Amino acid sequence: MARYLVTGASGFIGSNLAVHLSQKNEVTGLCNSTPGSQDNLRDFKGKFIKGDIRAFDYPSLGRFDAIFHQAAVTDTTVTDDSLMHSTNVLAFVKILEYAKSTECRKVVYASSAATYGKGKVPMSEKDVPAPANIYGESKVEMEKAAKRFAAMSPEMSLVGLRYFNVYGPQETHKMHAASMIYQLYKQISSGKAPRVFKWGEQFRDFIYVKDVVLANLKALEFPERGAYAFNVGTGIPTSFNQVIEVLNSALRASKPTDFFDNPYDFYQDQTQADMDYSQKVLKFRCQFSPEAGIRDYVTILKTN
Ligand SMILES: NC(=O)c1ccc[n+]([C@@H]2O[C@H](COP(=O)([O-])OP(=O)(O)OC[C@H]3O[C@@H](n4cnc5c(N)ncnc54)[C@H](O)[C@@H]3O)[C@@H](O)[C@H]2O)c1
Repeated sequence: MARYLVTGASGFIGSNLAVHLSQKNEVTGLCNSTPGSQDNLRDFKGKFIKGDIRAFDYPSLGRFDAIFHQAAVTDTTVTDDSLMHSTNVLAFVKILEYAKSTECRKVVYASSAATYGKGKVPMSEKDVPAPANIYGESKVEMEKAAKRFAAMSPEMSLVGLRYFNVYGPQETHKMHAASMIYQLYKQISSGKAPRVFKWGEQFRDFIYVKDVVLANLKALEFPERGAYAFNVGTGIPTSFNQVIEVLNSALRASKPTDFFDNPYDFYQDQTQADMDYSQKVLKFRCQFSPEAGIRDYVTILKTN
């Protein structure tokens, strides 16, 4: 059995990944976990350790065949620079050092579409990073650290996955930072009007969490050494109005949308991944279209 470490294991993406990997492998999940989010691990068959990635005694865990690093400050509205840097960047460097010292050659880590900021679409790995907030800056710093590290450690394979807008089961603990799809589902399913910024034509590359798990599996199989960063999206732009249309149809609802002014100047009005490089090099291709993913998610939300 392969041995894997998943950080952020009780979080949204980390728990989906940890549960999947633990079906056939020996998995350790590490997280500072928050109350309630433990439910995310009800189907987890591995070992869970509560700990802070910034100050953890990693060598006590022994050697892993691969590390999947998902833990981070994930709320993009956080403005505490020191918290963001120590959690997202410095802890990541610690994990790289730990991997090297135990001859773990594969580290897959969560980067983000936030590295592109308000850039042109479709967003390509060839574009110059232009993060619009300190969260996006921290992800750019992580990718730079991975590059520096790989230059000194040519035996390692460090794969950064630039997730676009992820939605799916086990995100409810994220509250206001949960996906737009979940926020709109909650409003519509409780009989309220869906609320979006004027005029709902902002679009996002919404990717289903099951496809994000698949991207991590592709990154695990990826044979090249060095530091890489790949887009993880569908490549398909979906407007908020289109999301509302699918949710209304899945929930048989029809309340008119309530449009209001957007208070954030760092808001990404549009995201769309250019998936050429990921498809060719990482061999990653989504299995869910946005509509199929939203419908699958609604079915799961309704049964829970
Ligand atoms: N969800 C998205 O749309 C999205 C998009 C782009 C990138 N990402 C990245 O994917 C990764 C997972 O995000 P998520 O959506 O699952 O968010 P999440 O907030 O559910 O998961 C992050 C987890 O990290 C944990 N964590 C935070 N600080 C920690 C610390 N000091 N020590 C230990 N654990 C700590 C949190 O408790 C949480 O469980 C993050 O790196 C995030 O930046 C997510």
